Amino acid sequence: FQKKVLAGKKVLITAGPTYEAIDPVRGITNRSSGKMGFALAKAAVEAGAEVQLIAGPCHLTTPLEYTGKIKRTDVISAKDMHAAVMNHLDCDVFFAVAAVADWSVKNASAQKIKKSDQSNPALEFELNPDILAEAAKKASGKKPYCIGFAAETNDLEKHAQEKRIKKNIPMLLGNLGPDTFGLDDNQLLIVEEKGMTKTNKLSKIALSREIIQLVSTKI
Ligand code: C5P
Repeated sequence: FQKKVLAGKKVLITAGPTYEAIDPVRGITNRSSGKMGFALAKAAVEAGAEVQLIAGPCHLTTPLEYTGKIKRTDVISAKDMHAAVMNHLDCDVFFAVAAVADWSVKNASAQKIKKSDQSNPALEFELNPDILAEAAKKASGKKPYCIGFAAETNDLEKHAQEKRIKKNIPMLLGNLGPDTFGLDDNQLLIVEEKGMTKTNKLSKIALSREIIQLVSTKI
């Protein structure tokens, strides 16, 4: 039995990695599987919400698709994801779960880059828009309530609180495992202005149900 704590609420979720093209056949991506964002989408629907899921390239099927409660938009690059999110900011809660590429390739080639014995290609990077920070800036009053995620290799507590403040969001969830990419379990550090608490190590869906319950008390 699950209480419908998000009945009538609209939830926007980004999930998975992004992919930045180098040329038409090559690109740069990361190891995000999308599992955490998709689990949150499922838990939000169980709690009565309508979900807009914006997914980077990943191999997951949409949870609870038959209910029609999750609308899914597939995107490739961080810029595509940015545009999709800006179109769907009219919501109550925004979970930025995607591992968005920090940079895109400025000198991406329209044609396949040819291998040469003389020289190797040199990639130039440019910073991608920070989707979450921009959404938080546009949030009118408390809407949407914006939640970020952070995966760090070191000093999680310090980086997570700094990140929450820099992005100007009320809640940031830090991955406590050294490397949770692709795994079914996760443990999160919940960072708010008032301080930090740790969840237990749980399956991503059990964890998502706890997070949804917590967030429902904030909106
Ligand atoms: O700054 P950093 O990438 O470590 O922050 C991670 C959080 O910010 C995640 O919630 C991620 O979805 C979001 N993010 C974003 N747009 C970016 C970079 C990160 O929405 N360009």
